[in-house]
Amino acid sequence: MELDGIYAFAVQLGKDAGKLLIDAAQSRFNGNGESTQSFAEKDSAVDIVTKTDEDVEAFIKTSIAQKYPDHVFIGEETYSKGSSRAYLIPPTAPTWCVDPLDGTVNYTHLFPMFCVSIAFIVGGRPAIGVIYAPFLRQLFTSCRGRGAWLNETQRLPLVRNPVPPMPANAPGGCVFSCEWGKDRRDVPDGNLARKVDSFLNMAAEVGGRGGKGGMVHGVRSLGSATMDLAYTAMGAFDIWWEGGCWEWDVAAGIAILQEAGGLITTANPPRDPLTGDIPEVGLGSRLYLAIRPAGASDTESGREGQ
Ligand code: IPD
Repeated sequence: MELDGIYAFAVQLGKDAGKLLIDAAQSRFNGNGESTQSFAEKDSAVDIVTKTDEDVEAFIKTSIAQKYPDHVFIGEETYSKGSSRAYLIPPTAPTWCVDPLDGTVNYTHLFPMFCVSIAFIVGGRPAIGVIYAPFLRQLFTSCRGRGAWLNETQRLPLVRNPVPPMPANAPGGCVFSCEWGKDRRDVPDGNLARKVDSFLNMAAEVGGRGGKGGMVHGVRSLGSATMDLAYTAMGAFDIWWEGGCWEWDVAAGIAILQEAGGLITTANPPRDPLTGDIPEVGLGSRLYLAIRPAGASDTESGREGQ
């Protein structure tokens, strides 16, 4: 399939959708538009949707339908409205997988780490990714075989470290990222605490053993799985982990990470006994672990030679 025209369309769509997000956020900053309380609950009290999510998804969906009427569309808010198991990506049909506003809680609290996420999927694999965080003016894009980019000019990864931080032997000094997720069933904040605890144990184990040992530099949580993946592709994060993601949370991020040279796998990935390689996982895993690209040695980079 010829991807160049679709890539150009997707990038412009991401920019236009980002403008809608920033306009909505700005009007809230100015005291107009939605108030901070203007959201509805979906599956739980922490799974929320705003009018902005719905408006931006409608804009993206209509734009795609006009340009590519034969393509399948899967969007977070379209799915929420009841089409059961719509998250399953068709194995053959060209498919758009969209989160109009990833980081809805951030948006609601005017914490700037939110973005629009647009993926184009061919043969069940993300081929094009566009992530635009308009508050931060960061546009991440990728097209299969054409590299991954920040703001269309800077090739990813930006932070170059020749050593890939494989889970069992990551060098010290890694920055880990994970999301605490939305599962508050049974023990309302207990699930959150359990997830934090298991991640911190994993981070301590990875940072403290094997490789050159040393300490984990830090653990981060951005409140947007999409932005976590973009920052891992950039090389700012060494490893990101989350359970419970939907396809629209990760599809564009996976496209960008893989095109930058990073690896998407699952937690505690089994290694190939002969090569030691870690297998990739595809969309639908629900439990993802991303490993940043191993960039070429770059003496200008502050983190070279760990
Ligand atoms: C959510 C965010 C959050 C992650 C959840 C996602 P939304 O997406 O990415 O960080 O923990 O798994 O569903 O609801 O803000 O679009």
